[in-house]
Amino acid sequence: MIERTPISSILSGKTGNREVTVYGWVRTARSGKNVSFASITDGSTPEQLQVVFSRERFADLSELATGACIRVTGMVVESPGEEQSRELDARELEVVGPAGEEYPLQKKRHSLEFLRSIPHLRVRTNTFGAVFRMSHHLSLAIHRFFDEEGFYFIHAPLITTSDAEGAGESFQVTSMPLDRITLRDGLVDYSEDYFRRQAFLTVSAQLEAEPMALSMGKVYTFGPTFRADPSDTRFHTAEFWMIEPEMAFFDLDDDIRLIERFIKYTASYLKDKCGSDIAFFGRFYEKQLEDRYRMLMESDFARITYTEAIDMMRESGRDFQVPPEWGCDISTEYERFLADEHFASPVFVTDYPAAIKPFYMRLNDDGRTVACTDLLFPQVGEIVGGSQREERLDVLQQRAAECGIDIDDYAWYFDIRRWGSAPHAGFGLGFERLLMYLTGMENIRDVIPFPRSKGRMM
Ligand code: 4AD
Ligand code: MG
Repeated sequence: MIERTPISSILSGKTGNREVTVYGWVRTARSGKNVSFASITDGSTPEQLQVVFSRERFADLSELATGACIRVTGMVVESPGEEQSRELDARELEVVGPAGEEYPLQKKRHSLEFLRSIPHLRVRTNTFGAVFRMSHHLSLAIHRFFDEEGFYFIHAPLITTSDAEGAGESFQVTSMPLDRITLRDGLVDYSEDYFRRQAFLTVSAQLEAEPMALSMGKVYTFGPTFRADPSDTRFHTAEFWMIEPEMAFFDLDDDIRLIERFIKYTASYLKDKCGSDIAFFGRFYEKQLEDRYRMLMESDFARITYTEAIDMMRESGRDFQVPPEWGCDISTEYERFLADEHFASPVFVTDYPAAIKPFYMRLNDDGRTVACTDLLFPQVGEIVGGSQREERLDVLQQRAAECGIDIDDYAWYFDIRRWGSAPHAGFGLGFERLLMYLTGMENIRDVIPFPRSKGRMM
């Protein structure tokens, strides 16, 4: 057993002033004439412990370098310094894992871009420690919210045969050696493959969540999602986590209310648990961060239909790069206009043209729009995509046919409309995009420990 005292217990005063042994990584080391100092961290608290080495006891501190892992035994004492209340007066030092001058995280502040090239080390910085602490608390907030709302957490498969979003952005899963594929009449013979058919990594857990909701009432998934997204922006990654609740007996209005309640809950949970990390991000990354929390928690989100949004943009007199026209998608340019400028608040855009949305969204009575919503955030753009689902078998079959979907491939999905169909709705929220907004980090790669994106895999 490794005998050690966590730094958190020392700094909180729990250990009292006595001899302890700590393990930690050296953040900074300074040597003076009579004493040398090292600040160390061990992950138990964002705070650093100052360790004091007297010249009499420690003649050679050459190995006490930034990045090294050390074990120190010493006395906890009141600190004369202003910055900390307690410090460690070292008696014994062992360098457990040395680090030389070539250790990449020397004292100066590094660019986020440089840090992205060393994900295995950047987590040792204050910034990334704070990001991943908040990521942890956000995950807990999500589970708590749904538990309190009476939802069941379910695990959806990661390997699927469907492309739920119909966007053709799936990664294929195969056990066939790709350099020796069996072809039959020029086509891949999947009967030789592991599943005896073509399989993919999931792009959304929704299709599997729906049958679960049509028995358990309210369910949610929270897991990894994979997309070979052609967009390579600071908001897109190939592997991200999505929260996908699915609710029986919910229409679009119920869905929208749930989304707003959900986001307000996570913001106030983080405000409560991560005050010092939020203050840190407010100081170094996003000056308006506190305002973001205030806005999320206190004001109502805006709501507008797609058709109203297009009309409003057309009438705004704004010189858009691509002039808005009914039927076009809401591009980044339009997202900016709506969420950053016009409403300056999160805004639900609802009822998009059926032609630009997936087949499963419920067709409105006008026959040309669907009961769906995208929630747009200032600065980040689309955070949530959700909809009421088409519960009418005949309408769904027709929409599927229009979208070129092979009904046989989705037989089970149609079955739940055949037997005991019910109105239901759900949404998908991108975990990392929400985390970006709540930390002020501007690149999705900076809120994922080991990000994967187009052309980049560490
Ligand atoms: O709007 P999307 O594609 O919705 C669905 O997949 C639905 N089946 C969800 C549902 O109703 N259950 O994706 C939902 C959210 C987006 O709003 C965005 O926040 C995030 O997932 N997202 C991505 N995040 C990071 N990188 C990507 N490439 C993303 N693609 C989508
Ligand atoms: Mg979407």
